[in-house]
Amino acid sequence: MSQSLQRTNLNSGWEFKQTDSDQDSWSSVQNVPSVAHLDLMANQKIPDPFIGLNELDVEWVGEKSWTYRTSFSTPSLPANSKAILAFDGLDTFATVKLNGSVILESSNMFLSHRVDITDKFSSGGQNDLEIEFASALLRGRELVEEHPEYRFIAHNGEPGRLGVRKAQYHWGWDWGPVLMTAGPWRPVRLEIYEGRIADPWTQIEVDKSLKFASGTMFAKIEGTSAKEVRFSLKLRGDTIETKSAAVDSDGVAKVAIQIQNPELWYPHGYGAQALYEVTAELSVDDVVLDTVVKKTGLRRGELIQDVDKIGKTFYFRVNNIDIFAAGSCWIPADNFIPRISEDKYRKWLQMMVDGRQVMTRVWGGGIYEEDVFYDLCDELGILVWQDFMFGCGSYPTWPALLDSIQEEAVCNIRRLRHHPSIVVYAGDNEDYQIQEEYNLEVDHSDKDPQSWLKSTYPARYISEHLLLKVVEAESPHTVGDLHQWNVWHGTQEKYQIFDSLGGRFNSEFGMEAFPHIQTIQHFVKDPSQMYPQSHTIDFHNKADGHERRIVTYLVENFRTTTNLEAYIHLTQLAQSEALMFAYRGWRRQWQDRKCGGALVWQLNDCWPATSWAIVDYFLRKKPAYYAMYRVLAPIAVGVRRAHHDWSVCHARPAKKLAWDLWISSSEVNDVKVDVELRFVSIATGKDIKAAFTKNDVDVTANGATDVLSGEIDNVKEEPHVLAARLWVNGELKSRDADWPQPLKYIQFGDRGLKILPKGNELHITAEKPVKGLTFEEREGVLVNDSAIDVLPGDEQIVTVRGMKDCDEPLNWRYLGQDE
Ligand SMILES: *[C@@H]1O[C@H](CO)[C@@H](O)[C@H](O)[C@H]1NC(C)=O
Repeated sequence: MSQSLQRTNLNSGWEFKQTDSDQDSWSSVQNVPSVAHLDLMANQKIPDPFIGLNELDVEWVGEKSWTYRTSFSTPSLPANSKAILAFDGLDTFATVKLNGSVILESSNMFLSHRVDITDKFSSGGQNDLEIEFASALLRGRELVEEHPEYRFIAHNGEPGRLGVRKAQYHWGWDWGPVLMTAGPWRPVRLEIYEGRIADPWTQIEVDKSLKFASGTMFAKIEGTSAKEVRFSLKLRGDTIETKSAAVDSDGVAKVAIQIQNPELWYPHGYGAQALYEVTAELSVDDVVLDTVVKKTGLRRGELIQDVDKIGKTFYFRVNNIDIFAAGSCWIPADNFIPRISEDKYRKWLQMMVDGRQVMTRVWGGGIYEEDVFYDLCDELGILVWQDFMFGCGSYPTWPALLDSIQEEAVCNIRRLRHHPSIVVYAGDNEDYQIQEEYNLEVDHSDKDPQSWLKSTYPARYISEHLLLKVVEAESPHTVGDLHQWNVWHGTQEKYQIFDSLGGRFNSEFGMEAFPHIQTIQHFVKDPSQMYPQSHTIDFHNKADGHERRIVTYLVENFRTTTNLEAYIHLTQLAQSEALMFAYRGWRRQWQDRKCGGALVWQLNDCWPATSWAIVDYFLRKKPAYYAMYRVLAPIAVGVRRAHHDWSVCHARPAKKLAWDLWISSSEVNDVKVDVELRFVSIATGKDIKAAFTKNDVDVTANGATDVLSGEIDNVKEEPHVLAARLWVNGELKSRDADWPQPLKYIQFGDRGLKILPKGNELHITAEKPVKGLTFEEREGVLVNDSAIDVLPGDEQIVTVRGMKDCDEPLNWRYLGQDE
């Protein structure tokens, strides 16, 4: 009698110890997946590396080998069945022994493995499973020694990382600590089966008309007797199609599928996220051996690279709609990946949606993310730009390494290809920057990949040949950018001109900011360290030259301070201003598709730190998050005066400055709006001249519309804010305020700011213009807006959720409040 597949998670009963240590004894492991640092912390053998300077005290962990072991009883094996141990991920140089014999050796944490152990059970009924993890840090250094034929050049971490297929940020990055983990970082399972569905997938193409979709559903079968697979396709529980197919000699069953009037999957803001359910069922003699269900979405995804008058466009079109892909880059949400909960992933991704971000980039120095990450992107409508796992280095290409990379790419694309959210796979992250900086050979006229392997930049073989081939073969309906680092790095331009520095798609750019005070309080335990440049606070910023860079942007723009909370606020305002200038300007350039999108470096952090993140490790949003949210409104008004560089002209003001006002729209239809522009004195709060109002302005769909322009007379007119508002059908939808630059020349003094609590709302008014009113980011409390400018005569309401009656009111801070 046949039996269905049985899966047993081997997640409990594990122990671990340092491999070669006589002193160390076996300690318990709470749960697998895990890594040594987590278990050492749980057993109080190391302190929390995220606190103070503790990172230094745990460095030794990465220099040791660690052994994990468990045991399990021999299962009963029905006739014709086999037993498999599945390892979804081993970090990284792992030797797996069952009952004392080696059954697997692995050197790539991005691979999953299945080992047939049918004949390997012990006669005694108990089976010992042991995994030894050698030090990847030491192994990486040895690989450099063993391969003098390659130039190992790495920015961030050390060159030893380049020959090791392990998350590259574990070696430390310019935003993260050096924490070299080791362990069974993804689940371990025992499976018993007669037959199983190894790999169900679909290739369905949506016709240009969007009226029908057609393609094939596939399932690869493993095992013996079953001859047929039953496929079904459902939408919200309703069966659309059921078909059976024979298994061919390659073990693959496939059926053609046609769907009339498919419900399409859209990124959020453009339509619903319809997800079809594909089920493949394998049976023999009326016994279901295995059933696999996967969700997938139907959408047309295109990367538009048309020649235009300035070069070649680079933007995404989904279901025939051009999408301005604004969003942020994603790094692993922790140094210790196994402890990132599903709930935390959901909070992060929901936060992107709430912030009107439509795309995320899974950055190449981290991991191919957990399934739940992509499931959530599918569910929430977030487009994913997926990097392969390479970053900032000239990678070596010895044959065994290339084989491992190939296997890794196949393994992960097969795992990911049903996700409609993934629209692009990209080969490398700033590797070509290394190639340029070190003058490594790339001859673009040479089209022979084999000869690239012999050049001083052999990694070209990986990004331009190997990965491309794998994507073409495994996920043919997926589509390959500029990193703009001349603000902060490079020439350190003023952030006010961010928009003029952009490329056709800005997949990285950013500005550092301190995290909120509560996050600093979490990692600074010594009160003497609570000042902006303290050793502990500096230690939690891993960027080269960060002290100078941060201060450069502060002294250029603000009156500086030594008060920690005021200093935090200034760094955060510098970041939010910079990103506002960038997103607002680039979105305007969507008008003629000059700029196709922008992904800020970076959304998140892997530990509590100062970095380019716009939301910190504890999910506390920095002001930049809110600034992006405002400029990415479906219909957003923008106003700005021309840039006048105060430093190069020795602080002589411009006599006249042009200004203009425009409206950006991502609506698919033209819309009529009303706009208003006021000129509000900073000193008195009064309007210095009559406002402009324009009703029934036609706003072009999915682009930008120029509306008004004029000139500021700095000789006759007192310093003032250009304050714009926009209404759709009488409802206020967007505000923008343009201030004289730099903000440090402004005399603030008392602003007459009033914040009145009314139920769960704060009603905010000011007698004189207020810049950057920022609320505390308290755990469990959500404000629906922050880091706002408040203009006289324009009350703003901020909703606060999660406060109890007895709670202290939220703290807040605005620019110049201490003056
Ligand atoms: C926050 O909530 C208030 C009250 O509902 C609303 O008036 C305001 O527009 C909201 N702000 C944002 C940015 O959505």
